[in-house]
Amino acid sequence: MAITPSGEGATTPQWTSRFAFLMAAIGSAVGLGNLWRFPFMTGQYGGSAFVIVYLICVVLVAYPIMMSELALGRHKGLSAIESISELAKDAGKSKNWGVVGIIGVICSGLVLSTYSPVAGQVMAYATMSYMGEFAGRAASEAATVAPLYNGALPAILWHTLFMVMTIAIVAQGLHGGIERIVTILMPIFFFLLAGVAIYALVTGAGAKAVDYLFTPRFDEITTSSVLAALGQAFFSLSLGSAIMITYGSFLSREESIPANAAVIAGSDTLVAIIAGLMIFPVVFAFGLDPAAGMGLIFNALPAVFSGMPAGSFIGGTFFVLAFVAAITSAISLLIVPAVALENYTSLSKTASAIVVGIIVWAVGALSILVKDTGGWLDFFSGSVLLPLGGLLVAILAGWVAPSAAMRAELPHASDRMFAFWRFVVRYPAPLAVGVILILGLDDKFGWGVNAWINSLTG
Ligand code: PHE
Repeated sequence: MAITPSGEGATTPQWTSRFAFLMAAIGSAVGLGNLWRFPFMTGQYGGSAFVIVYLICVVLVAYPIMMSELALGRHKGLSAIESISELAKDAGKSKNWGVVGIIGVICSGLVLSTYSPVAGQVMAYATMSYMGEFAGRAASEAATVAPLYNGALPAILWHTLFMVMTIAIVAQGLHGGIERIVTILMPIFFFLLAGVAIYALVTGAGAKAVDYLFTPRFDEITTSSVLAALGQAFFSLSLGSAIMITYGSFLSREESIPANAAVIAGSDTLVAIIAGLMIFPVVFAFGLDPAAGMGLIFNALPAVFSGMPAGSFIGGTFFVLAFVAAITSAISLLIVPAVALENYTSLSKTASAIVVGIIVWAVGALSILVKDTGGWLDFFSGSVLLPLGGLLVAILAGWVAPSAAMRAELPHASDRMFAFWRFVVRYPAPLAVGVILILGLDDKFGWGVNAWINSLTG
């Protein structure tokens, strides 16, 4: 069965159950963004100051945009590009709005090309932890002693392995591939996550971590922490990349979008918080700097775990957790461009997944080989395309789509809630996302906007 209709009479497959949909959507949202990006950003922006702003961003901006993506996808039930261009056409607007779907397709592919090398590194580190490679090492040594991950060749091999697995799952389609994998892996993920977090809280500096993450210190909130939090909320909830539009297109009309989106956003946020409760007790117990940045997980944690009871095993399990989170996100990133290719060519579902997968693999390999490519890809996909996609989704749902069409997709919302949602996607959400977009660009190109804001806020 095709993943999307290609031509007359074809039907879009639907999720077999609510559980399958939720596991796939939570699987997409919960990823390296929660286990790796959220803790290091929290550390960089001062702990609770970041966490509080993040929670507000999720509830007020990201959650309404997630509802919009699911509703836009379900409305026509076609691939992301077609769903949007048909909706715009019905509303008497230009079919060119389909460009939102095209941005999503490109963005998903680019995010995956930078995501897969990191996921490959996670696999390498899981293997090395179980092998006891990090036992007795200092944190500063871990990166240099990683024998399975030294040099470009091993990095490319691990990246290749990760992409082959991702392609193999997506090539088997919605039911035989994605649903089958996520309904097994996600429950295992939650079980392991709870286990490692309890271990870390009990054996590490739990009380200090809880204080660091939750005691409000409002005076430490800065404009840059607000921006970082909003960008992180988008990344973590897989928004702006047409993924939720695509997953929404497989969703039955009986399902409540506000309720399901709340479960997805709530679970994703809970996992991010638990990841903090897993990593910071260990960081504080060993006197590491929480602001150490991205290296926190790859350099510091393996060495640190190895100094704890059963550390090689726990450290390995931590990286297995991260791997499970990564692969269930990667399949959602691959399915968006794969569906588009299948839709616009005569290629089969399997061939489409393979062709797109190879392109993504090649870009990923290039980013490993050519210095700075990865940083640029990250910037272009994360700071330009994701917010741009999110901004256009809000405009589509709030301004382009007729209110009645959106109301029909959100029948479970009360009148009040619908009015509130519509207000958010018309005004504050596009404004907030537009601001991140401009400030993100400014950060790169130095137009002086950030400096100007800082001069205002003193
Ligand atoms: N949400 C995933 C994570 O948190 C990554 C992702 C980003 C997936 C953007 C899809 C789109 O790791």
